[in-house]
Amino acid sequence: MHLRPTLERDIQWLPEVERSAAQAFASLPTLAWLARAEVMDAEAHRAFVAAGGSWVVEDQEGRLLGFACARVEDQALHLHEISVRREAQGQGIGQRLLQQVAHAARQAGVRELTLTTFADVPWNAPFYARFGFEVVDERCLTARLRGILAGELAHGLTGRCAMRLCVRA
Ligand SMILES: CC(C)(COP(=O)(O)OP(=O)(O)OC[C@H]1O[C@@H](n2cnc3c(N)ncnc32)[C@H](O)[C@@H]1OP(=O)(O)O)[C@@H](O)C(=O)NCCC(=O)NCCS
Repeated sequence: MHLRPTLERDIQWLPEVERSAAQAFASLPTLAWLARAEVMDAEAHRAFVAAGGSWVVEDQEGRLLGFACARVEDQALHLHEISVRREAQGQGIGQRLLQQVAHAARQAGVRELTLTTFADVPWNAPFYARFGFEVVDERCLTARLRGILAGELAHGLTGRCAMRLCVRA
C-alpha cells in the first residue's frame, strides 16, 4: 500500500471509492440511506487537489483504496472527507490517511485539525477519539463549526458532532 498526493488522473475513481466506503452505513437502519447518498463530484475533488489538500492510498496494482481531503479554514485544517473502500476498511488505511492529514496541518502552521462526524457510529467519532481527537463541547463551537453542523442538519444529518485535534505544541 502506498500513500501519495492525489493526482488529476485519480479524480475519476474517487466517487466510486466514496460510494463503496458508504456501504458501511447500509447495516445501520437509521443511516442506511447514506449508502445511496450523493458523493463529492469531480469539481469538488479538483479544488482540493489544486490546493494540495488531497491524498490517496493505492494498492500494488495502483487501485485506489481510499482518500482524504482537507482545506484550511480560519485557523484550522478541516477534514472534509475521508473514505476507504468497503472491502479495505479495518486494515489501518484510514489511520494512515489521518496521520497524513495531521502532518499537513502541522506543515500548514495551523493550531488544529477539525472535522464533523457521527457521534455514535463506531467507525466515526470513536475512531477519531482513539486517534486523539476530542469532541468540541456545544458551548465552545466556533461560528465556522456551528455553521457546518447547521448545514448538515439541514441536509438531514442528525447525531453529528464536531471534533478537534490540537496539532501545535
Ligand atoms: C472511517 C473510515 C475512513 C476509517 O477507515 P479504515 O481504513 O476502516 O480505518 P482503520 O482501519 O484505520 O481503523 C478503523 C477503526 O474503526 C473501527 N471500526 C471499523 N468498522 C467498525 C465497525 N463496523 N464496528 C466497530 N468498529 C469499527 C475499527 O475497530 C478501527 O479502530 P481501531 O483500529 O482503533 O480498532 C472508513 O471506515 C470509511 O470509509 N467509512 C465510511 C465512510 C465514513 O464514515 N467516513 C468518515 C466520515 S466522518
